[in-house]
Amino acid sequence: MHPGKKMMEVHCYSCHHPTASEENRLAPPMIAIKMRYTNSSTTKKEFIDDMQNWIKNPVESNVKMYGAVKRFGIMGNLPYPESVIEQIADYMFDNDIEQPEWFEEHYNQNKGGMRLN
Ligand code: HEC
Repeated sequence: MHPGKKMMEVHCYSCHHPTASEENRLAPPMIAIKMRYTNSSTTKKEFIDDMQNWIKNPVESNVKMYGAVKRFGIMGNLPYPESVIEQIADYMFDNDIEQPEWFEEHYNQNKGGMRLN
């Protein structure tokens, strides 16, 4: 099993849980982050770099998920080691991430994911 999967579950799911209901969640599900941060031409290296940048600098000027910030408030500064983020991002990029039941409908409503949250 990819080590990043477990790391993601331990470090990120407390807020980014895939099965928290839409009403009760604390942050967008990881699948929403992956969709917002990747498109058909994004390389794995770019994705990993973007994740590292965000974790080091979770400030307004780096936000890509405006709707999420509006709804949940900006993500706090969490001191994850680079090696952990690299594994998590590597896992996210290469694998299908568990998605909440409500997600597909929500995603379609928000046309192409510009307002995923
Ligand atoms: C204490 C709660 C919490 C934890 C733990 C957490 N996050 Fe977040 N995260 C948030 C919230 C709230 C948002 C939505 C607001 C925002 O975008 O800043 C968010 C947004 C994000 C975004 C999108 C930023 C943007 O707006 O462009 C990324 C990327 C992200 N998180 C990565 C992670 C990763 C990777 C982990 C685990 C290593 C993690 N988060 C752990 C609360 C958390």
